[in-house]
Amino acid sequence: MLSVMSAATHPPSRPSVLLDCDPGHDDAIAIVVAARNTDLVGITTVAGNAPLTSTTHNALVMRDLLGIDVEVHSGSSRPLVGKPKHAGHVHGESGLDGADLPEPTTPLNGTDAAQFIVDACHQHDKLWLVPVGPLTNIALAMQKDPAVAQRIAGISLMGGGSFGNRSAVGEFNIWADPEAAQIVFSSGAPIIMAGLDVTHQFQATPARIERLRAIGGTLAISLADLLVFFSMMYQRNHDEGHLQGGAMHDPLAVLALTHPALFERTNRHVVVETKGEYTRGMTVIDERRLIERKASNVAVLTYVDAEAAFDLVTAAVAHFTP
Ligand code: BDR
Ligand code: CA
Repeated sequence: MLSVMSAATHPPSRPSVLLDCDPGHDDAIAIVVAARNTDLVGITTVAGNAPLTSTTHNALVMRDLLGIDVEVHSGSSRPLVGKPKHAGHVHGESGLDGADLPEPTTPLNGTDAAQFIVDACHQHDKLWLVPVGPLTNIALAMQKDPAVAQRIAGISLMGGGSFGNRSAVGEFNIWADPEAAQIVFSSGAPIIMAGLDVTHQFQATPARIERLRAIGGTLAISLADLLVFFSMMYQRNHDEGHLQGGAMHDPLAVLALTHPALFERTNRHVVVETKGEYTRGMTVIDERRLIERKASNVAVLTYVDAEAAFDLVTAAVAHFTP
């Protein structure tokens, strides 16, 4: 286990990152944090929180709001198996309900995310893939070119956990495309997993939202408005008092790379259940201490210093605020 103390000795790094997302309120924050703290080589979009047309539109809106010169490529409009599943009950119909957002002013750069991912893996050494939506695009890239898993530095993903949010054990990103997730988890690539156990520690409390709003400017105020909506939906969907705000899942997959000292992690063997009547979409985390267990394939994040992580969100937003 990498403790907070030992991790603290590692300075923040600035990795090359390709962000695969389905914006999505917390995806929008992940884009801001990645734009500030990584060498962002591209953004790819996937169907997830909303249909692909909406998640792609939302990624383009975020690119404009940040004023960054990063290519955006759309990808899969459906999972490898079955019909698309969306999360309007959390993100609203548009995927980014709650703020008065401008229309995109810059065009999409391409519509074959899987090929863009393959090419990026060959063009950039030590590239990190950071998927924060269903894993369809990443799995398709691995199917197109099996060398992807060996070429990359690793995958830092948001998904899974020891409990679910779309079923008792199914977290949305894994549950929405279990076959894709199974391909990724069994690929042999190093994986860091920001699952619900850690992301539920990172909530958009009213105080945090107001800190964001106080930065001022279109970006900060839009994000604050988005988080007000997101938190309202979370609180509506959970037992009263269970959460102080929406869980800001996706930026943690970025921060796990750029600021590892904020996290505790534990190495585990993880597989994805694709068949169970009640367990389809579950990440099965082997917690056994038996010597016979399989070698770990995933660094499972277990703790985040939420206050320090939110400081990095506000710093990133302030950076892009004129
Ligand atoms: C994940 O599902 C989506 O709703 C969020 O954007 C996040 O990636 C959390 O289960
Ligand atoms: Ca997401």
